Amino acid sequence: MLDKKILFMLNSQINKEFYSSYLYLDISNYYYDNSLDGFGNWFAIQAQEEYAHAMLFLKYLKNNGDKVKLDAINAPDNKFTNFKQPLTDVLEHEIFISRSINDIYAFAYEIKDFKTMQFLDWFVKEQGEEEQKAEGLCKRFDLFGSDPRGLYLLDTELSSRVYAAPSLVI
Ligand SMILES: [Fe+2]
Repeated sequence: MLDKKILFMLNSQINKEFYSSYLYLDISNYYYDNSLDGFGNWFAIQAQEEYAHAMLFLKYLKNNGDKVKLDAINAPDNKFTNFKQPLTDVLEHEIFISRSINDIYAFAYEIKDFKTMQFLDWFVKEQGEEEQKAEGLCKRFDLFGSDPRGLYLLDTELSSRVYAAPSLVI
């Protein structure tokens, strides 16, 4: 069984990952509603990834014989006014998630919970990649997004993304 505080932090992380999934689904809908199906596809897959992250945290608690407490998921309240805004919001959100995972890691280190540190290693690396992905999208949107042909090509590129399950198996 896990330390009480680390259990609480990991449980909260499950909710944050489900919220991320919800948020990305909302963004996906926004792009689909605006006929940017490639962006819609990209974010629908991102939502799937976040769901898988939540399930990994859930499974980790289960594997340790701990009880999972599922909390209510907040509704995303994004009212987007332009196509760039969701991308900036995503980058901001991923930085917030990285910080949250780092906080759990820091506490696991403090109490010498090496098992949880090892579990979180994958997420620390993953968050680096998530931030990079979000930053890359922002940059490419700045370069091509204001030109209709550029936006069309970017949308076409994003339509080719397919879901791949997380490489972490626990
Ligand atoms: Fe995640």
